[in-house]
Amino acid sequence: MKGKRILLGITGGIAAYKIAFLIRLIKKKEAEVRCIMTPASCDFISPLTIATLSENPVLIDFWNQKDGTWSNHVELGAWADVFLIAPLTANTMAKLVHGQSDNLLTATYLSATCPVMIAPAMDLDMYAHPATLRNIAQLESDHVHVIPAEFGELASGLVGKGRMAEPEHIVDHLIHFFKQDSLFEGTTVLITAGPTYEKLDPVRFIGNHSSGKMGFNIADQFLKQGAQVILVTGPTKETLHHPNLKRFDVESAQEMLELVQKYWKQCQIGVFSAAVSDYRPAEKADQKIKKSDDELILRLIKNPDILAWAGENKSKDQVLMGFALETNRAEEHAKGKLKKKNLDFIVVNTLEDQGAGFGVDTNRIKIIDKNNNLTSFELKSKREVAQDIVQYLNESI
Ligand code: C5P
Repeated sequence: MKGKRILLGITGGIAAYKIAFLIRLIKKKEAEVRCIMTPASCDFISPLTIATLSENPVLIDFWNQKDGTWSNHVELGAWADVFLIAPLTANTMAKLVHGQSDNLLTATYLSATCPVMIAPAMDLDMYAHPATLRNIAQLESDHVHVIPAEFGELASGLVGKGRMAEPEHIVDHLIHFFKQDSLFEGTTVLITAGPTYEKLDPVRFIGNHSSGKMGFNIADQFLKQGAQVILVTGPTKETLHHPNLKRFDVESAQEMLELVQKYWKQCQIGVFSAAVSDYRPAEKADQKIKKSDDELILRLIKNPDILAWAGENKSKDQVLMGFALETNRAEEHAKGKLKKKNLDFIVVNTLEDQGAGFGVDTNRIKIIDKNNNLTSFELKSKREVAQDIVQYLNESI
């Protein structure tokens, strides 16, 4: 569980007091915990206890009344490797089934793109009620992982099935869940991302509109599958934090090449998504170039092809994937690059496709392998495209 990001939702049942122990156990496994509490759960355990143990601020409202900051429920669900709701009351369970979003926790559930796990807790008759059974079945068919309630003493004084699973058992479920989620454990992946900036003078450069989103999403998905990731990125606003991530920020193609040359040998997989500038200014002025004549002619020289270098220096156990962003005859051009740069796979996208390309959050890709087999994917978010790429590589190598 080391480095896993667990978003813990706490609802208002007596079992909430056990969440302090649960957080302790999760933290011992070196996972990160961020907590969302429903207002009702604060009657059962103090947010201060939860914040202290989780070592993160607790989120309760959509916005903080003191400083006006807003809790971004979409970002929370995207951050997490799993959203665990424990304890889950019958009331919140019913809200999840119907897609209500009347508090931060239920809104986060609706927008979460990560897997969701629930640990229901209620009295035995509530747990056995046909409405609850229906709700659990519905959540299961919505792909929610259910950690069944356990048998024992209940707050009502009755004895039966309805107690929240013991914290140790919840941790066992998490461990099992993450085991299935480690397709690339023991694998080191080298990823290039973002644009390159080629300096003209101290204040100007030649660059492009690449945002780095695709490469960062691919890095994130490999990390989620247990890989060690070396990410070499050009200038970007993207952020990513994980103990298995080594990030290097560069500006120029030459700097990117030097890092790739340093790390490629120790990696088993290379995914080169950077939009590297093909040319750079032949001369870099030491001082700002002054405006003088009506015309200024720049002489450009060719940049090294980083991907081609990795292809030339690829051992038979290494797998290399490149990207081809094309504006016309996409497949034909991509197949040419696959061969010329000695790649195993090439991801093709074309600016002819709406919603694909630089800056936008979506992409539509095709993957071609070295035997010219082509797999097409639908237009999806870059996050889902990254999931597809990682899944495809897992199945193909
Ligand atoms: O030939 P083209 O630039 O279209 O190839 C795109 C692929 O090559 C991408 O995977 C890109 O990251 C990589 N590339 C590179 N170094 C360059 C140019 C492109 O690594 N100088």
